[in-house]
Amino acid sequence: MKGEELVMTPLKWFLPFLKKYRRLMAIGIVLTTVIAALSIVNPLISGVIVDDVITAGNYALLPRLILCLFLVTLVTSILRFVYQLVFETASQGTLYDMRAQVYRKLLEEDFDFYNRKRTGDLMSRQTGDMDAIRHFVAYVIYVVYQNVLLFVFALCMIFTVNGKLALCMLTVLPFTALSTYRQSREVRPAFQRNRNCFSSLNAFVQENVSGNRVVKAFAKEDFEKEKFQVENDRFRDAQISASRIWMKYVPIFEILSYALTVVLMIYGGYMVIQGEITLGDLVKVNGYLWMLNMPLRMAGWWVNDIQNFATSVEKIYATYSEEPKVRTPRIDETREKIRGEVEFRSVSYQAEGEDIVTDISFHVRPGQTVGIIGSTGAGKSTLMNLLCRFYDATSGQVLVDGQDVRQMDLYHLRDSIGMAMQDVFLFSDTIEGNIAYGRPDCSFESVRQAAIRADANHFIKAMPQGYDTIVGERGVGLSGGQKQRISLARALLKDPSILILDDTTSAVDMETESYIQSQLKALQNKCTVFIIAYRISSIKDADFILVMDQGRIIEQGTHEELVARGGYYAKAFRSQYGEIPYALLQEKNAK
Ligand SMILES: Nc1ncnc2c1ncn2[C@@H]1O[C@H](COP(=O)(O)OP(=O)(O)OP(=O)(O)O)[C@@H](O)[C@H]1O
Ligand SMILES: [Mg+2]
Repeated sequence: MKGEELVMTPLKWFLPFLKKYRRLMAIGIVLTTVIAALSIVNPLISGVIVDDVITAGNYALLPRLILCLFLVTLVTSILRFVYQLVFETASQGTLYDMRAQVYRKLLEEDFDFYNRKRTGDLMSRQTGDMDAIRHFVAYVIYVVYQNVLLFVFALCMIFTVNGKLALCMLTVLPFTALSTYRQSREVRPAFQRNRNCFSSLNAFVQENVSGNRVVKAFAKEDFEKEKFQVENDRFRDAQISASRIWMKYVPIFEILSYALTVVLMIYGGYMVIQGEITLGDLVKVNGYLWMLNMPLRMAGWWVNDIQNFATSVEKIYATYSEEPKVRTPRIDETREKIRGEVEFRSVSYQAEGEDIVTDISFHVRPGQTVGIIGSTGAGKSTLMNLLCRFYDATSGQVLVDGQDVRQMDLYHLRDSIGMAMQDVFLFSDTIEGNIAYGRPDCSFESVRQAAIRADANHFIKAMPQGYDTIVGERGVGLSGGQKQRISLARALLKDPSILILDDTTSAVDMETESYIQSQLKALQNKCTVFIIAYRISSIKDADFILVMDQGRIIEQGTHEELVARGGYYAKAFRSQYGEIPYALLQEKNAK
């Protein structure tokens, strides 16, 4: 990140979004000013009606004055409609751009970011927080501006009627200012708590809806209900305590605004009796009272809205400003097809201070097949994550085609790798759409071919809607093995230079597995293949095999070499195949 961006405040980040709509905003502001100015006219006319028509008996004036009143009201109504449209358009535009930018940033974030964040919280940033910003741009800006104008105009007009009366009414102002200040200070923490509770409630619901199958399987509905109740209570209490603060201040603001009326009636009435001002003047000032009152009454709400807006921008910015640790150099040189040579040079990776993999070194020539086997948690998937640069190695180097992956164009690298992940994720889309995810513009025939190679074609065809079958969220409606095969077809369709199969055939039967293996053989010398598996049968034909334990490679070699070594691999082989083949092999080796 550049230095200047580091010091960028949330507001500085927000302003350029608004700047794009500055013309619209300027039009809106002008219209708001016009409306505020027009608001002076009607009380003025009322004063004239009292003084010149009623008191002086100049009835000929009346129709013109009434026409004036009518015209001002009509113009104000039309302008009000237009400026609301203008501000709404500007706010929707601002939000549209912001949402797009924040979403693009979310796509750039790395695994580490998503490991730490709760989905529900990220969702709140894109929904609730964005809405607070919309409300600010579409409503708060003009309302605050308009009310400041109304207040100032009204005061000026009262001053033109009588300075002493205006000053007298101003005495109420410091009390209102003080109350607004105190209220906003008190309400701020309550408000923040409110938002946090909302976000937390969101995250809770999101997690439970996604995990509802586990909840049901463990019959934990009651437990979850209780947990939800805690969240729900917390949110309600936060809302109520914020409202309590409001309630406390509402009467204060009411009293202060009535104080204005009282001052006017007592002091203004006295002045009329004394002949210092006319009755028309009193009516006029009375007509301006709402312009003084409204800002005073509403100030607290607006302070709240503004704080709400500020908190939202801060929160969105805090998420937005997190830079992915895995940087993405975009290199514009011509991208040659990756050959698929992979080398790990003393690679170690630590996360949260713990060694996940340590001192990993191996070299794979293009087109070779590598088997990776080892106990659970040994670091097999981590090796592949390092190869795809989902994480960066803490020390050592990962090289593809002799080049450090950190110096490669990240998109080109990942685009050249076909990965069937251990944790299969399918989008709620058609099966065809899921398989063609990496190559959306490919023909249906290539999708079918990929499915055939992954041994998925026949079960897809057997479905009522075939390739057009919509699979539910995360592939609900498919069996574990079916999901794995679709995920394999998706990886194969990319025609990758490096293919990674992380536990991809664990849920398919032996027969299917051997079919898939024969299909993978066709890739030999075209594509480097990594197969992570627990079953020896999945990897025994590989060009070489890495055996991992506790983050280290403890053995490596071909199947025969490893069996002959009599170590971890040989033990796994014996337990999976029984003693006979092992004995046979020993015999063969002995010859
Ligand atoms: N980002 C991370 N932060 C902290 N710990 C991690 C992270 N990634 C992996 N680990 C830990 O590193 C170890 C190795 O994980 P990895 O997923 O590579 O194992 P694996 O060999 O693929 O296991 P399995 O065969 O069960 O899939 C685990 O103990 C895991 O908890
Ligand atoms: Mg794994």
